[in-house]
Amino acid sequence: MALDLVVIGLGHVGLPLARAAVSAGLATAGYDVSGAVVSSLAAGRSPVGGVLDAEVRAMLDAGFHATADPGILEGAQTVVICVPTGLTPEGLPDLSAVEDATAAVAARLRPGTLVVLESAGYPGTTEEVVRPLLERGSGLRAGEDFPLAYSPQRIDPGNGTWNVRNTPKIVSGCTSLCAKYAVAFYGRFVDDLVVARGTREAEMVKLMENSYRYINIALVDEVALFRHRTGIDVWGVLHCAASKPFGFAPFQPGPGVGGHRIPVDPRYPAARAESQGFPFRMPAAAHDVLGRMPGHVVDRALTLLAEARGRTEGGRVLLLGVTYEADVADVRETPARPIAAGLLDAGVAVSYHDPYADEFTVDDGRALPRATDLQEALNQTDVAILLQDHSCYAREALGRARCALLDTRGKVADSRVTLL
Ligand SMILES: NC(=O)c1ccc[n+]([C@@H]2O[C@H](COP(=O)([O-])OP(=O)(O)OC[C@H]3O[C@@H](n4cnc5c(N)ncnc54)[C@H](O)[C@@H]3O)[C@@H](O)[C@H]2O)c1
Repeated sequence: MALDLVVIGLGHVGLPLARAAVSAGLATAGYDVSGAVVSSLAAGRSPVGGVLDAEVRAMLDAGFHATADPGILEGAQTVVICVPTGLTPEGLPDLSAVEDATAAVAARLRPGTLVVLESAGYPGTTEEVVRPLLERGSGLRAGEDFPLAYSPQRIDPGNGTWNVRNTPKIVSGCTSLCAKYAVAFYGRFVDDLVVARGTREAEMVKLMENSYRYINIALVDEVALFRHRTGIDVWGVLHCAASKPFGFAPFQPGPGVGGHRIPVDPRYPAARAESQGFPFRMPAAAHDVLGRMPGHVVDRALTLLAEARGRTEGGRVLLLGVTYEADVADVRETPARPIAAGLLDAGVAVSYHDPYADEFTVDDGRALPRATDLQEALNQTDVAILLQDHSCYAREALGRARCALLDTRGKVADSRVTLL
């Protein structure tokens, strides 16, 4: 069967994209190098938090299939690359998965196939990395023999309102004709398309959006840290500032940032700029503040333990919510890890409660015991730290806790509760 679409990389971005395309009636398949991802999907199980098993089964019923065989790329009308982009151990952009996926496409590219990159990359990734690989590997010319486009993903895991269809999507092409092909493709299952001037602008949009979040979270975190000198109620400040109907977007302080993108993406424009001799300062300043937050939480918890027991060693601390985002089953880069490690290193017995994480280990492999009954766990610990504002953490239940509570989310307004 001729395929309208093959999605490469069936993770947090690729699978919701495939789901949207299948719902719109596109003949869709997925290619992923992970045998575990492919067999999980074949068995009707979703490998990612934002897509339900029932939705995977509905996709399979509608004809979707996943494979680890790159041969599936042959003859697809459109190929969209959604593979991970991270950082090297030196903190530089790591585009190796994009390069591998592009090489797999290049070897099978036919004239007329629309190739779209959705993975986040620094400005120039499509033109300077993807395009030459495709052209060298296929002998075809982008913009002449096949359209090449870039369209960043704006998926917000766990967001029940905004999805692939109703979130405005940025599209761009190597030429204006390439952009038109991309608009025609995405227009089949996305309501609102915004055409960027070129691929570099579209690439910068994604990095700008995530850097904006990163820097603004760092700003409110820094105010939260400063409040220990001034006694200022940072959540009270934010509540008042948010009443301004223009010119101010509220961000919330917390124990640090996590996830696959927010801590990573700001390094992309910064590394690119630095390689060109341009000092890109804002992400570095934000990185500095955000990097202090987990240590600050550890210090606050140890102080509470010392107050409660006279000594910290042997004390019990319960972490509430270890995922990096509320009501999302994703622990990548979560600040809960350095916090747990810091407490363990201080000789504290650390356990966790989180309906979204069946197991939780720190970076060196130490596993935390999991508590499943929240009230019982609160009764059996010396200090509980609210790290993530999952909806299961009702304010009243936390307020009734007999243990000391360190609230990093400003959720429980109670004089017995210690704020971040
Ligand atoms: N997760 C988000 O919320 C989010 C939001 C916006 C943009 N993005 C961007 O989307 C891209 C993908 O992120 P993700 O969160 O979906 O990653 P992910 O880790 O959830 O999924 C990536 C998938 O790609 C597969 N893969 C890796 N290399 C491959 C290759 N060479 N060929 C085929 N499959 C391969 C992996 O096995 C995995 O299943 C990243 O560049 C990220 O910047 C992510």
